[in-house]
Amino acid sequence: MSLQGQVVLITGASAGIGREIATRFAKERACLVLAARSEDKLQQLSDELTAAGSEVLVVRTDVSDPNDLMLLVEKSLERFQKIDVLVNNAGVDCFHHFEHLEMDEILQTIETNLTGTILLTRLVIPHMLEKSRGTIINMASTAGKQCPGFASVYGATKAGLIGFTQGLRSEYEGRGITATAICPGFTQDGGIYDRMVQSTGKKTSFALGGTSAIAVANAVLKAVRTSPPEMIVNWPPVRPAMILKEIFPRLGEMLANAVSRKFAKRVADANAAEAGR
Ligand SMILES: NC(=O)c1ccc[n+]([C@@H]2O[C@H](COP(=O)([O-])OP(=O)(O)OC[C@H]3O[C@@H](n4cnc5c(N)ncnc54)[C@H](OP(=O)(O)O)[C@@H]3O)[C@@H](O)[C@H]2O)c1
Repeated sequence: MSLQGQVVLITGASAGIGREIATRFAKERACLVLAARSEDKLQQLSDELTAAGSEVLVVRTDVSDPNDLMLLVEKSLERFQKIDVLVNNAGVDCFHHFEHLEMDEILQTIETNLTGTILLTRLVIPHMLEKSRGTIINMASTAGKQCPGFASVYGATKAGLIGFTQGLRSEYEGRGITATAICPGFTQDGGIYDRMVQSTGKKTSFALGGTSAIAVANAVLKAVRTSPPEMIVNWPPVRPAMILKEIFPRLGEMLANAVSRKFAKRVADANAAEAGR
């Protein structure tokens, strides 16, 4: 399926995985709307992609602000008259000792990762329905499948995105609109994991593994072409462990804790030290 001329709106396109996704779609000659708060970084990416022949619109957007989301959709339609693919990628991490979290940190994580995605999708869907065509990609995480300790708020938002995606798929089946939840493990060249490695000096264990921003971007393109309900992007493959967890929840939890808890606690400790908590 050719993506040439398709209009792809990507949130969180200024860095990490989102930047890689934009670059991949540009190679397919898609028209791009790039959204994030850092307008300078978006403009720099836009200059690179435009020089290589892409049509790009930059819209400074805070996805936790409903007014920004309305303007984002308005400007996208004004420029391209349609949105074929919405990639809800913007997100922030939240690896902390839960009892240390401030209320506004919890709210900001939920509003950015979950509420922003739901509201933006609500604004875009009517325009997709008009054309009986559209793809929603929601950037979840393996943390939404099995949440590690010290990341309960982050995991809750990602589990929420997986549920939201399932509901959309069921509701719009047969009406031209599909949705996929992408669930990457810890992702090299994504800002979130790279900052964790930097702050702790440690990588994840081999058993937990991980992936790369390029692999996640490739998965997004594959999802647009094949519309699966969900894609887990990780090496080594973790789906067998997740199936095991469904059958034997306590054993699954034990295994997940064994491979992820120490790393997640290190990140939370480093964040606590940095914040002086
Ligand atoms: N890296 C990983 O290990 C990993 C694993 C699984 C899932 N994920 C998910 O993948 C996505 C991207 O992660 P990443 O590692 O690439 O992170 P990143 O490098 O920190 O990039 C995050 C992106 O989100 C944008 N963003 C953050 N808050 C925003 C807001 N309020 N409004 C608009 N944009 C906002 C940032 O742009 P501005 O700061 O310019 O606004 C940036 O473009 C996230 O949803 C994350 O949860 C990451």
